[in-house]
Amino acid sequence: MTPAEQSRAAAAICRLAPVVPVLVIDDLAQAKWLAEALVAGGLPALEVTLRTSVALDAIRVMAEVPGGAVGAGTLLTPADVKAAKAAGATFGVSPGATDRILDACAEHDLPLLPGAATASEIMALLEKGYTVQKFFPAEQAGGAAYLKSIGSPIPQVKFCPTGGIGLKNARDYLGLSNILCVGGSWVAPKDAMARGDWAAITTLAREAAALR
Ligand code: 3PG
Repeated sequence: MTPAEQSRAAAAICRLAPVVPVLVIDDLAQAKWLAEALVAGGLPALEVTLRTSVALDAIRVMAEVPGGAVGAGTLLTPADVKAAKAAGATFGVSPGATDRILDACAEHDLPLLPGAATASEIMALLEKGYTVQKFFPAEQAGGAAYLKSIGSPIPQVKFCPTGGIGLKNARDYLGLSNILCVGGSWVAPKDAMARGDWAAITTLAREAAALR
């Protein structure tokens, strides 16, 4: 899959809803309920971070939930890319970008949202053909004001900013012409997941889905 094809596929996923939940799943038993709750609330694109021992199994379970588009986040190595694809991930997200990660996504046909945080990183990815990128860590790297400024010289790159975004500041990003969606963990709070309060998560998803 070429970078341009990956970016087209990534853009389509980013356009499904204004928010991509960033999920850290510790308990595999939560995976199906969590995916159903988020999809029911209007957030079909789900990023499962590869930060827990059950993450790949969670992707396997969530990929079966009707209406969802399940991706793997925190891709750090080519082995992560291969495992994510094998588990059924339909897209990938990485906090930054290395040639090895980019090559692995091309080889395994996994549309990637590669991470960038500076003008040079954004330009380096653009040179390779990645026109849709993750901006990370969004708030810490300059936030919406930074992305607005980057949009003047580099309007052809669109972003999914992630990191420090919540209901309060999501609109600051979503109002910009170079933002396709935002990512965030706030729609799946650990305490609600631990309680199995899926209705609360659907309510949070609904609020997030209504942001645009
Ligand atoms: C992450 O990779 O952890 C995401 O950027 C989520 O950040 P958040 O927890 O601040 O939403």
